[in-house]
Amino acid sequence: MKATTKQNTTGPARLTSLPEWADFERAARSASVDPNRLALINAAGIDLDTSGQVYSADLLKAGAALLEARGFEAQRRLLLEGGMVNPTEQRAAWHTALRAPAPHAEIAAERQRLFEFIHTADSKRRWRNIVHIGIGGSDWGVRLAVAAFGYAGTWRNVHFVANIDGHAIQGGLSGFDPHDTLVVMASKSFTTAETLENGQRALEWLQAAGVADPYKQMIAITARPDTAREWGIPDAHIFKLWDWVGGRFSLWSAVSLTTALAVSADVIAGMQTGAAAMDKHFAEAPFAENAPVQMALSGIVNRSVLGYGSLNIAPYDFRLANLVPYIQQLEMESLGKSVDISGAGVDVPTGPAVWGMPGTDAQHTFFQWLHQGSDGAPVDFIICAHADHGWPHHHRILLANCLAQRQALLQGKSYNDALNQCLESGIPEEEAKWLAHHRVYGGGRPSNLIVLPRLSPYTLGALLALYEHKVFVQGLIWGINPFDQWGVEYGKQLASGLTRELAGAKPLDPGHDASTRYWVEKLKS
Ligand code: F6P
Repeated sequence: MKATTKQNTTGPARLTSLPEWADFERAARSASVDPNRLALINAAGIDLDTSGQVYSADLLKAGAALLEARGFEAQRRLLLEGGMVNPTEQRAAWHTALRAPAPHAEIAAERQRLFEFIHTADSKRRWRNIVHIGIGGSDWGVRLAVAAFGYAGTWRNVHFVANIDGHAIQGGLSGFDPHDTLVVMASKSFTTAETLENGQRALEWLQAAGVADPYKQMIAITARPDTAREWGIPDAHIFKLWDWVGGRFSLWSAVSLTTALAVSADVIAGMQTGAAAMDKHFAEAPFAENAPVQMALSGIVNRSVLGYGSLNIAPYDFRLANLVPYIQQLEMESLGKSVDISGAGVDVPTGPAVWGMPGTDAQHTFFQWLHQGSDGAPVDFIICAHADHGWPHHHRILLANCLAQRQALLQGKSYNDALNQCLESGIPEEEAKWLAHHRVYGGGRPSNLIVLPRLSPYTLGALLALYEHKVFVQGLIWGINPFDQWGVEYGKQLASGLTRELAGAKPLDPGHDASTRYWVEKLKS
């Protein structure tokens, strides 16, 4: 199955050369956060409240014109139809095909194979333990889903091993009975050093335990089935993904096998359905009511006009802790670029640093900085209207905390209000006048509120697709390719040479800086 690949190196016009950009920038600078505005978009069952973002009717119009100038409709079509949207790797980025309600026959057949494997394993109650080995996009989505839906315990024990640090695989294998353990190696490229080394350690562990046929207890999920086969994995245990599925978008493929084994195959199906509903919304909703589009535009205002260097993700749901690293990879690997498709430097700041932690822990960790620090950051607050536990009081407190943080960021607190509060609490006037300065909140700090009716595979799938499409739109406006990751590659190349130098298998590279040279000599073993 092939997606269209036609090379395009010309790239878009320079962003700042566009009159539409100048209009957008001007409109953004004269707009503000209006505490009296309520702005809601419903997308695939999720409510996106953008009331906390800088807004004006002019800005809305300028955003539409900017997107038109960037050829948004044609580019969106190209993305959704499997056209060439990743020119530097000459590939499509057709992850939406994996979750299409009526997928291509090849995708459907692979999905069927996967479900049969899961069904057989479940009906035989086989594999009490799973060691999932993969990194980045071959890891975070699975960790996210397993924690989100298996937070109260899963009938299979699952360990995730991503890091090359030997302690990771040591911990990943420990406590498991090798005779009842399935090792899942997820790697699109099947060349990632971490995954191959950790996979090798797992294989040795199975061999050392005298397992009859260790390779039959291993699975490979990859776009390079030949390489996995050469590695020793039998055909029946190789599940395929395609070249046109980016690593950070591969959760929709067989990479989610571990999720299905740990929780249920329904989780994969539900997530795919929710994501497909968001794809449909993205494809069809008018511009002003298009959630990914509006999120993308306010993100561009925050980053490229207002100069916020980061975006905070605040899921007020303990089950979504792994959403933070998931979105970190999605956004930062996609938008952490400063050259546009034609090779010219992008002349406005691009993708923000993404960080966060679930609330309310985050409030006791870094929210002080968000409220009163000199930089601040836009925040995406994420909540579920209904909880799945039996303590409504807990949920009310959780929701109240989220709304409170958001309100404080939005409305702030003036000096006079702070002073009055100090005086009302009985603080003497002189002291109150001094203390009030410390209790002022600037306010006007941008945020989104994303409300899921409850956490289900459907809503999580829709939420992830919302962020995927937002990233696509931002890449389009900035003119960059959100689907490659060349910056990661150079580090990998250097690490491979340095590994050999540390082992004494290669002389020191004379091109090393003084410090690297010193430490290679010192740490060599
Ligand atoms: O970090 C770079 C990267 O290539 C990611 O894009 C990818 O998700 C990860 O490494 C793992 O790659 P693979 O699935 O090929 O092992």
